[in-house]
This record gives sequence, structure tokens and C-alpha cells, in this order.
Amino acid sequence: MNIVVLLAIAAGLIALRFLKPNSLAWSSATWVAVYVFLRYGVVPPVPASVLTMFMFIITLSLAVYLTTTEDRLKEVSNAFVSFFTDKKYTIPLVVALIGLPFIVAFRVYQNLTQLPDPPVVGRTIHPPPPATITFKGRQVDLVDEDNPYRELETSDPTAFAEHVSNGRLVYYQNCVKCHGDNMVGDGLFARGFNPIPANFQDPTTIAMLQESYLFWRIAKGAPGLPVESTPWSSAMPAWETFLSEEDIWDVILFMYDFTDQRPRAKEVHE
Ligand code: HEC
Repeated sequence: MNIVVLLAIAAGLIALRFLKPNSLAWSSATWVAVYVFLRYGVVPPVPASVLTMFMFIITLSLAVYLTTTEDRLKEVSNAFVSFFTDKKYTIPLVVALIGLPFIVAFRVYQNLTQLPDPPVVGRTIHPPPPATITFKGRQVDLVDEDNPYRELETSDPTAFAEHVSNGRLVYYQNCVKCHGDNMVGDGLFARGFNPIPANFQDPTTIAMLQESYLFWRIAKGAPGLPVESTPWSSAMPAWETFLSEEDIWDVILFMYDFTDQRPRAKEVHE
């Protein structure tokens, strides 16, 4: 309990006693006193729903109190009538008539302009891949299948260089607008997307992933990603309808070559 607030309320009520107010003023003061006590006087704070419930009960009981005897009822209605008709209340009346709608309008405005909070769940950037996918009618085993051209890197460097060079072509014809000239995800269109295009120079993207994982992501794009990868649907297109299987494996070679990274090694099965 907050003693300072309690003393302030008591002082206010005692001071009011000397003014010899009518029942309406007394009841209003009681209402305010209860509100101030519950809102500021109780530690830890009373939850808003409990406060609303309490104030509803208090309002109801004060209304009952004010209307149970003829005398009190008359006193209340006289007070209202004189507030609306008496010349000496003109200024408070005008203030109330303008002020109350203004407060309501302001509260409505405040609630309307509050920005919605983004969903609390974070987006999973690398959802687990399916075990197999179908690429143009062929089953691709994502667990065991490797980039078929990777071995050329040691066995036939010239042929390997040709694949990388085709990959460069594929990249600059299709991917550069989003993933950018330097593969940092700052292409011309990148700003328009949420999530933004992946930054392949970042060690937490392709360096952490197997080539078959990239094959899946490039072939299937954003459509059909699991729910963990929502609520913002990614703009990554599904390239299976535009590129050949070789083009996709080639662009993967180029992505690692350009960023000077190595794909994550396959897990060795016993
Ligand atoms: C219209 C814009 C757009 C284009 C064009 C685009 N991408 Fe993407 N790409 C994205 C976005 C956005 C993401 C990040 C969200 C996601 O993972 O789906 C992404 C993610 C990826 C990922 C996943 C990276 C990771 O860390 O999981 C790969 C791989 C990828 N893109 C490759 C490509 C390749 C290769 C091309 C060209 C053939 C390409 N993208 C073209 C927008 C694009």
C-alpha cells in the first residue's frame, strides 16, 4: 500500500467536508477517491480488468445510494438542473460539453494510431529440408545426392571452370536483381521484400548448408515452405520452371566460388 497516496486521499476528503457539499458532489468525490486509491495506492498494481470491475460496482452502488430516498434524488436532479441552467456554471458547462467529446475522440484516435506489434515468433531462416523432392518428374534425394559437378574441381579443373562460368551467367541473368552484384542481398529489388533476400557472403547462409539444401531452395523457392518460415512469405521464386537441373547445380558452384566459401560437408553414414 502506498501511504503517500492514502494520506493525500484522506486530506482531500477532509478538506471537502468543510465545503459542506451536496450528495452528488460527495458521491463523485468518493468515486474519484476509490479510483485513485485502486489505481495508484495499491502495490503491486491492480490489473486493469479488476480495476474496471471494481469501478463498475462502485458506480452502481453510488447510483443506488443516490436514488434510494426522495430527498437525495431531488438533491441530485436539482444539482444537474442548476449545472445546466444556472448562469454561474456557464464556463464549466462549456468546458464539459467540449472537453468530454474531445477526450473520447482523442482516446479513439490514440487506439487507432497504435501500430500493430509484429508477431512474437521469429522466422526460421533455414527450415529442415524434405528428404526427397521431385524435380521435373525425377526424384532427387536431398540426403544422399551431391552436386554432380563438384568432383570436377579436382578431377577436371577445366570442365569445372566451364560449369562455374555457366553458373555466373545464370546468376547474373536471374538472381542479381534480388541477391545483388556482390551477393550480399542488396539487389535493385531487395528493399521491397520482407524477409530481404539472403546474403550469401554472410557465414550463416550458404557456408552452413549442403549443396543439396541449396538445390532444394533454388528449385522450390518460397512456395510450400513450412509454417516456421512464415508469417512473412519470402519472395524467393521457384526456379524449377525456368532453369535446368544443370543450371541450378552450376549456379550453386558459382555462389561458393564467388564468395570464397565451402559447402557444408555431407554427413558420413556408417
Ligand atoms: C525476387 C527476388 C529473388 C530472386 C530473383 C532470387 N531470390 Fe533467392 N531469395 C530471395 C529471398 C527474399 C530470400 C530469403 C528468404 C528465403 O529464404 O526464402 C532468398 C533466399 C535464397 C536462398 C536461401 C539461402 C539460405 O540461407 O537459406 C538461396 C539459396 C537463394 N535465394 C538462391 C537464389 C538463386 C540461385 C537465385 C537465382 C537463380 C535467386 N535466389 C533469385 C529472393 C530472390
